[in-house]
Formats: sequence, structure tokens, C-alpha cells
Amino acid sequence: MRIYLRLPLASILALLNLFCYSNVESIAGVNKYLFASATFPTLFVAVGEAPFNNGFFNWLFDIIFPERCSGSWIDFSAEGFNNALKERVYGQPLIGLSNAVQQHWSNNQPAKALLLSMHGPPGTGKNYVSGILIRHLFIKDSKSKFYHLFSGTVHFPHKNQVQTYKDQIQAWVRGNVSICPKSVFVFDEVDKMPATLLDALKPFVDSYQHIDRVDYRRAIFIFLSNSGSDMISRYMLAQKKLGKDRSEVYSKLDDKLPLYLYDESNGAFCFSSTNNQSLP
Ligand SMILES: *[C@@H]1O[C@H](CO)[C@@H](O)[C@H](O)[C@H]1NC(C)=O
Ligand SMILES: *[C@@H]1O[C@H](CO)[C@@H](O)[C@H](O)[C@H]1NC(C)=O
Repeated sequence: MRIYLRLPLASILALLNLFCYSNVESIAGVNKYLFASATFPTLFVAVGEAPFNNGFFNWLFDIIFPERCSGSWIDFSAEGFNNALKERVYGQPLIGLSNAVQQHWSNNQPAKALLLSMHGPPGTGKNYVSGILIRHLFIKDSKSKFYHLFSGTVHFPHKNQVQTYKDQIQAWVRGNVSICPKSVFVFDEVDKMPATLLDALKPFVDSYQHIDRVDYRRAIFIFLSNSGSDMISRYMLAQKKLGKDRSEVYSKLDDKLPLYLYDESNGAFCFSSTNNQSLP
């Protein structure tokens, strides 16, 4: 009985899909649903009650359409990203971010890997913004196999194992970039990582064309850190008392921040000279 009731739904979805699938950037989950329903209406009907995030359904989809390191799976729309930021993020001037990312990925041979670094006290939206960015880079969002998250407290907790961690980071970056040059590595809680750990990234973010035939220049490295928060808060407060406009204050903060972070030598953000030049 149920199966008969569902048939019309599947055919409507199949029709809708003809219309929607050309718009690949639209929300991945929905697309997946529509696409699969068009391709396998009968199967879909058999699955019946399957909710959108059914494990079996996802598994099947992944087998039939494995994620590949190419345009239909990795795609950045600056417009979509900017709209999402406008809708969901208040008071953070992040316009430069989408330009930086778009220019980087539309270029087949950028001069070097893109480093993005977001600082600020907890709760200011660093993770939130990087989450929005990931959603707009990968159709599979944070489930993409080309997205890699490392957290200071989870992955690198012991200060005395820096060398092991460094070797690990290098092996992971090398392995993953050889599979897909457009890989994204996010380092969260950078301020809680052992100092000098991120020096391991130095060879990958310099402007070598390739190292052992692997080209790292299309990768994106994102650093999220609480370091500098004291300075940012104090500075913003002082400027607000002086009656300065927010956007005016930001442009000056950008000049001050890199040097300040360098001084604050307790965290890992010393990252030697690389960090200094590559901040967008
Ligand atoms: C890619 O990175 C992950 C960590 O996100 C790691 O576990 C995996 O081994 C890496 N793959 C290769 C081929 O190095
Ligand atoms: C960063 O660059 C500035 C000027 O470009 C330089 O004065 C400063 O020493 C550099 N800092 C580091 C850590 O290399």
C-alpha cells in the first residue's frame, strides 16, 4: 500500500531533479536526494521511509558516486559564500576572505599555498566562519575526504612529542595533497599546540613549485587561534572609547596583529617568518 502512495512522490522528485541538478551548488543533501531519486526511482521507493540522512542511502550514494578531486565536488562560489556570511555573521568584515579563496582556487598555479588565519576570543565565530567556508568549498561539506581538521588539544596534546607530531603532520599533508592538490587543512586551537609545531608546515607554504613532485601551492591552510584576543579586545575597546568607526579600526588592527602575535611567544603562532608574509 505504502509503495503505491510513494510512487507519485518519486516521479515528482525525478522531474524536479531535471530542473535542479544543473544547479550543483545548491545544498548537497537535497541534491543528493533528488538525483538519486531520479536515477533509481524504484530503489528509492523500496527504501521508502528512508529519511534524508539515512546511513544506507548515503553509503549507496558514495559507492555509486565516489567523491573525486574535481570541479563537481570541489567548487567555490564567492557569491554564495558572501551571501551566507551576510545572512549569518554580524559585524565581522570578511569580504577579503572570499576574494582570497576564489582567486586562489581559480588559479592553476598560484605562487604559494593560501594561509588564512582567524584570531579572537572564544565565541567570536572563528569556527563558525570556517564551517561556512568549508560548506561552500566542498559539496560534501565537512565529510569531504579533502578536508582535514586538526585540533590542538585533541591531536597534539603532549608538549614533549613535538617531533612525532611534526612528522605526522608532514606525512598527512604530503599524503593528502598528493591525492588532491585542492585539499584544505584546518588547525584549530593553534594557541594550545606545542610551540614550533607548525614549523612543520613551512616547506609546504613556501613558494616551491613542487617538492618531490608534489605541488602544495593549491592547498589551503586555515589557522584558528585565541592568541591575540587580549590585544584585540583591549585595542577595540580603546578605539570605541575614542569614538572611532569599526571598519576604520579594523584596517589598523591588521597591521598590528602579525607582529603582536609574534611577540606573544607562549603559543605556537611563532611559526617563524612564514606566517608574517603570508597573512592575507
Ligand atoms: C590524510 O589526513 C588524515 C588526517 O586527516 C590522515 O589520517 C591520513 O592518513 C592522510 N592520508 C594520507 C594518504 O596521508
Ligand atoms: C615581519 O615583517 C616585518 C616587515 O615586513 C619585519 O619587520 C618583521 O621582522 C617580520 N617578522 C618576522 C617574525 O619575520
